[in-house]
Amino acid sequence: MSVNWRYRFAFRTDGMKSSIIRELLKLTQDPDLISFAGGLPAPELFPVKEFEEASQKVLKEHGSKALQYSPTEGYMPFRELIAERMNRDGIPVSADQILITSGSQQALDLTGEVFLDPGDTVLLERPSYLGAIQAWAAYQVRFKGAEIDHEGVRIEAVEDALMTGPKLMYILPNFQNPGGTTLTLERRERLVELSEQFGVPIIEDDPYGALRYEGESLPPIAAIDARSNGESLEHVIYLGTFSKILAPGLRLGWVAAKPEVLRYYIQAKQGQDLHTSILTQMVAYEVSRNGFLDRHIQRIREVYGERRNLMLDAMKRYFPEGVTWTAPQGGLFLWATLPDGMDTEPLFKQAIQEKVAFVPGYVFYAPEIGREPLRNSMRLNFSNARPEQIEEGIRRLGRAIEKMTR
Ligand SMILES: Cc1ncc(COP(=O)(O)O)c(C=O)c1O
Repeated sequence: MSVNWRYRFAFRTDGMKSSIIRELLKLTQDPDLISFAGGLPAPELFPVKEFEEASQKVLKEHGSKALQYSPTEGYMPFRELIAERMNRDGIPVSADQILITSGSQQALDLTGEVFLDPGDTVLLERPSYLGAIQAWAAYQVRFKGAEIDHEGVRIEAVEDALMTGPKLMYILPNFQNPGGTTLTLERRERLVELSEQFGVPIIEDDPYGALRYEGESLPPIAAIDARSNGESLEHVIYLGTFSKILAPGLRLGWVAAKPEVLRYYIQAKQGQDLHTSILTQMVAYEVSRNGFLDRHIQRIREVYGERRNLMLDAMKRYFPEGVTWTAPQGGLFLWATLPDGMDTEPLFKQAIQEKVAFVPGYVFYAPEIGREPLRNSMRLNFSNARPEQIEEGIRRLGRAIEKMTR
């Protein structure tokens, strides 16, 4: 008897979707096409030589340890390095409150596994990070969105959404993906108060916090929580990653949480993959130590800051009147909004003909009953294209928008 696979799959596969961005990116393989679509770091900045030397050193000095099974929690010196960096940012944690994950994407999935039952509600920003929506949709949850404005998520919208009894709040405080906005200090403080008032924990996802190009750094929500409650990670689970400050191919991220919470993350990770590659952790530690990571981040900030300025400047020159955009203080993305009534989905097809790509904004809206995504926005990445491509790509995109407007 042949297998009817459709009747064999779990119900949760109904909620599984392949990332629209990844589908769109398949259309962007043409070498003449300039892509502002992905969230890719600049490959020319990857410290390849340092990785080559560190790999050799690790294998020569600790080869058998680097190739053996290792603890789920992660490589202790690497966890210590992360804890030290978090302490510097005002989050008092020790290394044993940190679990190394295979990118922060795994931390998002583990969050689903540890917290989310079918039918639970997740409060998230509107729009929000597509990878989180994708990971949690598989846990058969509902989403309740709170709009963002130029100061990050709107507190009144969070208050309304909290009335629906969400299990978690998912917040991107710095240079939000996709909106490019930064949550103000006052709103960070309010979120901690609301978390306390409603007893709903905050998942603080902060891949871009170190990549600031202007303005003063703001304390992470977890730092405000620690300050106001005298206890670290009382209301917050903090997610970090090396993807944007070192290299995404490493697949190295982390979760910091209080011990009784982290315990479940560790157990869930054991079931998923036992541990993150110890060889990769040891090599990344070897590269990062002795101040290299800070120097490297400084270099990334200079290059990306320049690219951001170039893109903003080119948009002023090439985008038709009526288009508005965010001027992010850091991160990898900005968010442009076309006049009401325009739709960036057909614009995407027009743009591909002009040989430039972006991501239509509607893909970043979690599905919600009775609420439609905004269709006139787009996300533009400024870290991956070279300066001359940024100028030319924005010129092409301006032309595509003009054609659509006509
Ligand atoms: C907000 C946010 N969270 C998590 C991730 C996942 O990063 P990684 O799995 O590479 O650490 C990304 C990647 O772009 C992101 O933008």
